[in-house]
Amino acid sequence: MAITITMGIQKGGCAKSTTTGVLAYLLSRDGYRVLAVDMDSQGNLTEMLSRKPSREFAEKSVLEAMQERDPSPYIVKISDKLDLLPAENFLATFPRWIYTGETYLGGYTRYTGKSGLILDDTLDKIRDQYDFIVIDTPPSLSEQTTNALCASDYVVMMFECSNWCYSAVPNFIESVEGARVHGRHNTRLIGILRIMNDARRSDAKAFNEMIEEDYPNQVFKTIITRKAPIGRLSLYGFEDNAELKQALRQYEDFYKELMERVKGG
Ligand SMILES: Nc1ncnc2c1ncn2[C@@H]1O[C@H](COP(=O)(O)OP(=O)(O)OP(=O)(O)O)[C@@H](O)[C@H]1O
Ligand SMILES: [Mg+2]
Repeated sequence: MAITITMGIQKGGCAKSTTTGVLAYLLSRDGYRVLAVDMDSQGNLTEMLSRKPSREFAEKSVLEAMQERDPSPYIVKISDKLDLLPAENFLATFPRWIYTGETYLGGYTRYTGKSGLILDDTLDKIRDQYDFIVIDTPPSLSEQTTNALCASDYVVMMFECSNWCYSAVPNFIESVEGARVHGRHNTRLIGILRIMNDARRSDAKAFNEMIEEDYPNQVFKTIITRKAPIGRLSLYGFEDNAELKQALRQYEDFYKELMERVKGG
């Protein structure tokens, strides 16, 4: 049965999509069977992995998979070990569909279960086909995010060392706790990844230290710094990328730490 890991924080631009893509790639490179799920209507993970505009997945996305509770018709093969359940703009209509039953195409399909468990129910159909499912979330504590959290065994909280990210942390941790209580996977925070660090800034250093003092057992030792090759993963992706090795260097350390925690249960 797949182990499911969500990358999250409701603050925008904290490398959630980048980290989800890298983790999916590193797991598949290690020989694991991986499904990457995009739960953000921006479709950034979708574009990063598929190398196509996300709008090409209109009517063929995670939204339709959830409305039909069956991901299989919408799963896209990326490489031998890596599959993608894509997202596009209309995933933004997910909450409206939950509460009214109306689909953005004018159809009507009511979901009668708990609103936070729709993705979980959907992924149940294919969990035996993968070793890992990794999920990218939008920059909000929306239905998309709560569905991802409730479908997950583990959550990696992204922490960009800024004041507004620091303010986001308590609500995010409460949401993970909510998923643990209301979901079916005993959802746990597996770690806090400090990300996009600008080593020259003293305020960044201070926030890194503050989060470590607040959550000493949760922070990963690895801190990902700002590096152009990491930023350019959004441009070049993982195939035929001349600077891939540089882009992955710091992430390999995070990956090792994460896998030790996953294997330690
Ligand atoms: N370590 C890094 N160094 C430089 N640029 C980075 C790094 N990590 C991510 N980026 C870039 O920063 C931007 C934000 O990253 P990303 O889109 O992964 O964040 P996000 O949390 O998914 O954003 P959103 O909240 O909008 O979904 C992107 O342009 C990405 O390419
Ligand atoms: Mg994103």
